[in-house]
Amino acid sequence: MGMLAGKTAVITGSTRGLGLAIARAFAAEGAAVVISSRSAEAVAQTVASFRASGYQAEGLAADVSKLEDVQALADLCLMSFNRMDIWVNNAGTTGPYGPTIQFEPRVFESVVQTNILGTYYGSLTALHHFRQQGSGKLINMLGMGYNKPAPWQNAYGSSKTWIRNFTRALAEENRDMPGVGVYALNPGMVLTDLLTRNDVIAGSEDRLKNFPTIVRMWAKPGEIPAREALRLASAATDGRTGLEGNVFTGGVLLLGAIREGWLRLIGRKPDDGIVEMRVVPAWQPDKSK
Ligand SMILES: NC(=O)c1ccc[n+]([C@@H]2O[C@H](COP(=O)([O-])OP(=O)(O)OC[C@H]3O[C@@H](n4cnc5c(N)ncnc54)[C@H](OP(=O)(O)O)[C@@H]3O)[C@@H](O)[C@H]2O)c1
Repeated sequence: MGMLAGKTAVITGSTRGLGLAIARAFAAEGAAVVISSRSAEAVAQTVASFRASGYQAEGLAADVSKLEDVQALADLCLMSFNRMDIWVNNAGTTGPYGPTIQFEPRVFESVVQTNILGTYYGSLTALHHFRQQGSGKLINMLGMGYNKPAPWQNAYGSSKTWIRNFTRALAEENRDMPGVGVYALNPGMVLTDLLTRNDVIAGSEDRLKNFPTIVRMWAKPGEIPAREALRLASAATDGRTGLEGNVFTGGVLLLGAIREGWLRLIGRKPDDGIVEMRVVPAWQPDKSK
């Protein structure tokens, strides 16, 4: 029997990247899953591919920065599967790499709305249900900057610091319910669009010149952190709350270093296509107003 047999899970941002890997890992262990992202088309395709693999899946387009969309995910899970056991606040976004004051305010706001409000709305929705049910597991996604400042990636990094403290506080507030677990997961560097499709603010390109090499050496497939998400969501953490999963993969780094050394030996350039960078203009306040 699978580790999550009979359980149901909502995973936000699960049409690609880490969320998709987590949804697959959960479904492969017997969970019925709710797939979501902002794209109805991507949701339909993902649900179809899960069903084709014999997994139980439903899906809904939902923007986590809207409370009513997030609540609709819970409604779908309860309506389709009659229960809701696991909720992963995975959906996340970043903005261009560069100095905070050159960051377009609208983009900064979208990071806050998705990463901070999205995590808040998801936690609110999940915990209300879990407390009523007397059981459930909530996993919030950390990332770079969760434990220290992240200059040039301040919107993303500070949102992850917020998520960590927010999650720790939630764990403390819900200790009175031993069946309810609140966890954080730091997946490390994962080979996804978020990592490899970057905007960089004009003038900051030089700071990223070694980034493709770092990605090639460090980044791992989503399946590796998905295993840690599975552990947190499973009975292995029953009765324990406030845990923080950290995925450090020394083996991936070692293999990456060997591969990098080999590529250099055969004269391949570091930026050979894994990382795409688009230069965007620095934002300036409109002085004409
Ligand atoms: N990749 C890494 O190296 C890394 C490292 C540490 C932590 N993380 C964290 O892991 C999580 C997943 O990242 P990823 O790398 O898998 O990113 P990704 O490849 O960009 O995928 C993000 C997913 O979230 C969805 N999404 C984005 N904004 C959304 C919104 N407002 N509402 C609903 N869905 C939304 C996307 O679909 P749509 O755009 O179609 O909505 C997509 O399905 C994030 O919280 C990220 O911070 C990633």
